[in-house]
Amino acid sequence: MKKPSARSLLDWYDRHRRTLPWRAEVDQHADPYHVWLSEIMLQQTTVKAVGPYYHRFLEKFPTVQDLAAADRDAVLSAWAGLGYYSRARNLHACAQQVVALGGFPQDVAGLRALPGVGAYTAAAVAAIAFGVPVVPVDGNVERITARLFAVEEPLPAARKTLAKLAEGLNADRQAQARPSDFAQALFDLGASLCSPRSPACALCPWRESCAAQKAGIAATLPRKASK
Ligand code: ADE
Repeated sequence: MKKPSARSLLDWYDRHRRTLPWRAEVDQHADPYHVWLSEIMLQQTTVKAVGPYYHRFLEKFPTVQDLAAADRDAVLSAWAGLGYYSRARNLHACAQQVVALGGFPQDVAGLRALPGVGAYTAAAVAAIAFGVPVVPVDGNVERITARLFAVEEPLPAARKTLAKLAEGLNADRQAQARPSDFAQALFDLGASLCSPRSPACALCPWRESCAAQKAGIAATLPRKASK
């Protein structure tokens, strides 16, 4: 099986990338406050639903300093409708910690230590805002990885295996040179062609490298343990 090449994925991304409110131009690093805010909002809410909340939130709190200085009630009211209020409380606490630190930490470990920031969010902010060559592993990236390597072990048991395999996806020079675009290319591939139910394998930049596609089982992966 051909190795999945970062070059093919990045070429595809350059042609098809989505314009999203928090996205910087190709090759530019996005504002860490914007990336962090969008990633927290996107944790349990779709890209489409997040858009208006994201804009309104930034109008009220244009900078992380504004957010840190705001009343908790003002933050919760700007969050109203997104649900999961612990996220909003963590958001406020996180903003205060970032201001106390003099800015966002620029590596995964520093980001991971912030309130409400888990492994995925730390990797996403590090890659997208700071160009750290790490692969953030969310549900999209798990699905892509399960298919590329035809991992038939069900979730959640397969999570560790998938994370390890996903980490290796950016091993080549092209991916290392564009960590932010590489991470977002994976999100876009998962949100479009490599969709959960009916993947559009014929259009996929990685079809030659995909073991599940070769075996005709792409649409069935990742498997989930029955509850
Ligand atoms: N889903 C989670 N993070 C995302 C991002 N930065 N862009 C698009 N979809 C996402």
